[in-house]
Amino acid sequence: MDLKLKGKSAIVTGGSRGVGRGICLALAKEGANVVINYNSSNESALKLKNEIESLGGNAVTVKANLGNPEDCKNLIEEAEKTFGNVDILINNAGVWPQNWVQDIPLDEWNKTIDINLTSVFLTSQAFVRKNIDKNRPGKILNITSQAAFNGSTTGHAHYAASKAGVVSLTVSMAREMSKYDINVNAIALGIVETDMTKKALESKEDYYLNRIPIGRVATPKDIGDIALFMVSEPASYITGATIDATGGMLMR
Ligand SMILES: NC(=O)c1ccc[n+]([C@@H]2O[C@H](COP(=O)([O-])OP(=O)(O)OC[C@H]3O[C@@H](n4cnc5c(N)ncnc54)[C@H](O)[C@@H]3O)[C@@H](O)[C@H]2O)c1
Repeated sequence: MDLKLKGKSAIVTGGSRGVGRGICLALAKEGANVVINYNSSNESALKLKNEIESLGGNAVTVKANLGNPEDCKNLIEEAEKTFGNVDILINNAGVWPQNWVQDIPLDEWNKTIDINLTSVFLTSQAFVRKNIDKNRPGKILNITSQAAFNGSTTGHAHYAASKAGVVSLTVSMAREMSKYDINVNAIALGIVETDMTKKALESKEDYYLNRIPIGRVATPKDIGDIALFMVSEPASYITGATIDATGGMLMR
């Protein structure tokens, strides 16, 4: 199947490692130009850019702290300046702090909401403004979690709330954006092998595996391939959906 991604330009927030890296590689292999957003050190972003270029692809790295509203807007500006058009926005960056409800400090709550939810609103707003102005179709894909539906079981109530917000925002944006030919979808992840889950998997792998009918945690490549389809032309009849990519951990 031709996914018709060749020559399209895509921003992947938090693209330099983990799930974001898997998505960047999948896009680049299909011939898309990739904007790899990173937050602090650009070492892994540059490494990924080189890897993509060695495969014959096109990539740039853009620094943006998505906890900062100005950076969210600048990310879209920078991407537009580099590639002219930005067709795809993948909101992947996120944080997963751990604290029980009685202990969560307000600043930790706020930071989680800012990075996991408010940034999705701000980058999407800047993206759709450009696309509407230029009468250009687009795709937004938001990365959410099974926790949006199940709630947290291990001390991540703020995270679960932020990811539930992403699901609802996805639906509202999909309704509003359909008339502009902009699709907005989400993928809910279960457990993926990344820096985010490394410690949790080391300390209680069985707990997680027992919740996954498929019997293994996902790799970033698994998720990259699913994301690829969701932002492709053949998926154009899907909007407002949250696809569960959880190995069966979440079944609705
Ligand atoms: N790994 C899992 O099991 C799992 C499960 C459900 C959902 N998710 C979601 O998948 C997405 C990717 O997570 P991951 O597992 O690859 O984790 P990760 O920790 O490896 O990667 C997170 C990425 O987000 C970026 N990021 C964090 N704060 C940022 C900020 N302020 N500004 C810009 N970038 C920032 C990081 O730099 C990193 O690139 C997240 O949204 C996460 O919530 C992951």
